[in-house]
Amino acid sequence: MNPRLSGVIGWPIGHSRSPALHGHWLARYGINGAYVALPVHPDHVAEALRALPLLGFVGCNVTVPHKEAAFRAVDHVDRVAARMGAVNTIVVRPDGTLEGRNTDGEGFLKHLQASAPDWVPTDRPVLVLGAGGAARAIVGTLADIGVPEVRIANRTDARAEALAREFGGPLKPWPWDHREEALSGCSLVVNTTQLGMAGHPALDLPLDRLPADGTVCDIVYTPLETTLLADARRRGLTAVDGLGMLLHQARAGFAAWFGVEPAVDDELRRAVLGRPIP
Ligand code: ATR
Repeated sequence: MNPRLSGVIGWPIGHSRSPALHGHWLARYGINGAYVALPVHPDHVAEALRALPLLGFVGCNVTVPHKEAAFRAVDHVDRVAARMGAVNTIVVRPDGTLEGRNTDGEGFLKHLQASAPDWVPTDRPVLVLGAGGAARAIVGTLADIGVPEVRIANRTDARAEALAREFGGPLKPWPWDHREEALSGCSLVVNTTQLGMAGHPALDLPLDRLPADGTVCDIVYTPLETTLLADARRRGLTAVDGLGMLLHQARAGFAAWFGVEPAVDDELRRAVLGRPIP
């Protein structure tokens, strides 16, 4: 039987951890398949995706900067991808049409629930920093699961305001310069900005106002232990790192393409990081 083929399209793509991630699962479950990095220039996203069924691919992941172009190129989208206007997972249907999904929010939530099982979504506000693509996935998910107030603070305040207007419901824009006050009464704070990533400044957010049983989540995973998470741990708060979101968002695609529900565990984390977890 021919191997099942999948991969990840992006530009550039060399940095992607997805081939190591899916490659580990393929080996672990003894699946006759391959998952490859596919550098696709921004001018050719739709053509490349159209070629997937012709080349025998069962689907692919989509990463920056192609998630919006992929959304426009596919034949069907699910509710979450439609709200996001972005697709990160494509499944080739038996009739050769392309189904677009967005599993970033689901990946965030599964990882949060696994890492902070005592966190209760419905009792207190949550603060989200940032208003980019990752923030969109996360605030949508938080609203879906009944968080009563989702405060959004973004360096460019107008983007936080636009996001809150668009999603409505519990979303509430908060001025970036007053982000520290926004921690008051929150059960959770999530950093979705690039602050804290290698090569970027640290996030300046003293955590004094976060309640003592609060949870701090950073979607940055290079480094795994950001200054924000180290500070949270020092204070005895629950710290949730960014790698798990990446690992969990990959599960739905792998299950759809290869027919196995894969496990997210330390073995996978080691495989993706390429070294032991500190
Ligand atoms: P992603 O899709 O990963 O969320 P993005 O859409 O480029 O990426 O969003 C990056 C986020 O990090 C934005 O919220 C951005 O703030 P702006 O909307 O003001 O650009 C935030 N960000 C990036 N660099 C920042 C910095 N130095 N200080 C504060 N926020 C920063």
